[in-house]
Amino acid sequence: MPSANRRFVALIFVAFAFLLSGCISPAQAHLSDVQASADLGLPNAVDVAERKLQPSVPTVIAPAGYLKLREVPDSKCDRHKCVALTFDDGPGRYTEQLLNILAAEKVPATFYLLGSNVKSYPQVLNRMVAEGHQLGNHTTSHPSLTALSRAQITQEIDGAAKAIHEVSGVEPTTIRPPYGAHNAAVDSVLKTPIILWDVDTLDWQHRNADKTVSIAMQQARDGSIILMHDIHESSVKAVPELIKQLKAKGFTLITVDELFDGQNFEKSKAYVHRK
Ligand code: NI
Repeated sequence: MPSANRRFVALIFVAFAFLLSGCISPAQAHLSDVQASADLGLPNAVDVAERKLQPSVPTVIAPAGYLKLREVPDSKCDRHKCVALTFDDGPGRYTEQLLNILAAEKVPATFYLLGSNVKSYPQVLNRMVAEGHQLGNHTTSHPSLTALSRAQITQEIDGAAKAIHEVSGVEPTTIRPPYGAHNAAVDSVLKTPIILWDVDTLDWQHRNADKTVSIAMQQARDGSIILMHDIHESSVKAVPELIKQLKAKGFTLITVDELFDGQNFEKSKAYVHRK
């Protein structure tokens, strides 16, 4: 081959290699990013949440984060022993710490939020959504609904739903009435299933992490709904050990909606357990 032609062929080869590297690099970078995310777990999750989520712009990036928190992607409760961790009265000052723990353990939870609190914690709500936690309605100001008029009940529920939606872009799919207080009049106003609990850790009363774990472990069975409060530091401190012990007993930890997936799950009806 004449040397001019050889130079031409060499040039084409170099140009092709350059183009090819341009095509492959971003994909490889993306894959290694995903890999890093999977390997590093918590710090990366926090990093991603901080980078992507701005308080003034509610963004829902649930699909990417959703799977990140699940060790068992197919967590159907007819095939696994399930429990749902639920946290009431937040968000509060310890909620972010709780999200760090849940991210490290790859455990989703359900948060029964107060409408009056959510506007102070937009980043926390956005992170909950991004990481696959479930948002629930716990009224605007935590009254006992049975003491209110129909109009007041509507106001408490709709106000909280609106506040949660404005901050997170998500409509709560279930409600937990404060103190578990409900009656036929309350039920007739509620437009979603009512979620109570069968495992009461009494964490708000004793404020003791060890006690919170031991009560939960004594009472938890397949299909249980465990009640805790993320506004107490002792409750949040109990979570790593509680998750460890629940997993050791073979439980899959899932959200309330997942717990009732495939079950009759009706609005205005109260549920304390999967079955
Ligand atoms: Ni409450």
